[in-house]
Amino acid sequence: MNLLVTGGAGYIGSHTAIELIMAGHDVVVVDNLSNSTRAAVSAIETVTGRDVTFFEYDIRNDSRLDEVLACRAFDAVLHFAALKAVGESAAQPLRYYANNVAGTATLLDGMNDYGIKTLVFSSSASVYGDPDTMPIGEDSPPDPKSPYARTKLITENLLHDLHDADPDWRISILRYFNAVGAHPSGRIGEDPSGVPNNLLPFVAQVAVGRRNCLNVFGDDYPTPDGTGIRDYLHVVDLARGHVKALDYLAGAGGVSVHNLGTGRGYSVFEVVHAFEAASGRKVPHRVAARRPGDVAVSWADPSKARDELGWTAEYDLERACEDLWRWQLTHPRGFSTRKA
Ligand SMILES: NC(=O)c1ccc[n+]([C@@H]2O[C@H](COP(=O)([O-])OP(=O)(O)OC[C@H]3O[C@@H](n4cnc5c(N)ncnc54)[C@H](O)[C@@H]3O)[C@@H](O)[C@H]2O)c1
Repeated sequence: MNLLVTGGAGYIGSHTAIELIMAGHDVVVVDNLSNSTRAAVSAIETVTGRDVTFFEYDIRNDSRLDEVLACRAFDAVLHFAALKAVGESAAQPLRYYANNVAGTATLLDGMNDYGIKTLVFSSSASVYGDPDTMPIGEDSPPDPKSPYARTKLITENLLHDLHDADPDWRISILRYFNAVGAHPSGRIGEDPSGVPNNLLPFVAQVAVGRRNCLNVFGDDYPTPDGTGIRDYLHVVDLARGHVKALDYLAGAGGVSVHNLGTGRGYSVFEVVHAFEAASGRKVPHRVAARRPGDVAVSWADPSKARDELGWTAEYDLERACEDLWRWQLTHPRGFSTRKA
């Protein structure tokens, strides 16, 4: 298939582009590089041995949308482009709504004009908020706790409305849990700009000596060791979930919603220990106050994705830590400072 990947220079989009190409698809990447670099596109080419057409383009800029959408007879779009920092979204809600919601509406409008009506959308487990029961199934009522999470839920609702208005649309909504790890080649991984928001990139930067100490936000949660528990999913497994979602859409119409997670939760201390074991380095840490909005526990019920998409996570946390450490060691400052 001819596929357009928005946000394809970012962490999950770039790993997914690799898996799509390996599955035989032709991939065009668009990204405004607001949280990524062109080096990620080169890395996709290196890992796959295939040239990738790249547009440095902002999905909100509809005057350039024609140029992108007309460059191939696209069969589907995989839409990763979004801003994703929860804390930042509380401080800058307009920026998040403009980028994530209005940007998606502009993209959908262009797709509609070109008759491209198949979409895989990156949603988030954050739409569930803080449910009472674990694991979290897709029928758990949404209760987003941040502007970021609300942009995801509003976009999901927009996609349902779009399909109600025009049943020709085929839409897969994937609710990701926590993406971690890096490509096993060590040539591509997460390259967060500034201070990482997520646990594992921060842990890796402490282990490699780029940061002094990890803050553990809260050790008084009602969990066995007092730290928060999350479902950590290897980014390659997550990427492969998109290949399965595309296959599924080929046979199914409508709008589908699937969790992508492992079904297992790990505490912050368990993650730190797993990373220390994989890296052979100590990760100094200190306990800090809880962060507003953080929930105690969150892990997926991934059985719907298993039953309907034929997808199950294959890699465990240990493997994710090993792959992340390989990437971190060879790229201690991300793509900009690759070591030989
Ligand atoms: N990382 C996670 O664990 C996680 C969890 C749940 C959902 N998600 C969602 O998955 C998607 C990808 O996340 P990621 O972790 O790869 O983030 P990322 O920041 O690495 O990738 C997003 C990419 O989109 C680009 N982008 C942002 N706004 C754009 C715009 N207006 N036009 C063009 N490009 C734009 C950025 O430059 C970046 O390269 C996002 O939609 C995110 O909300 C991520």
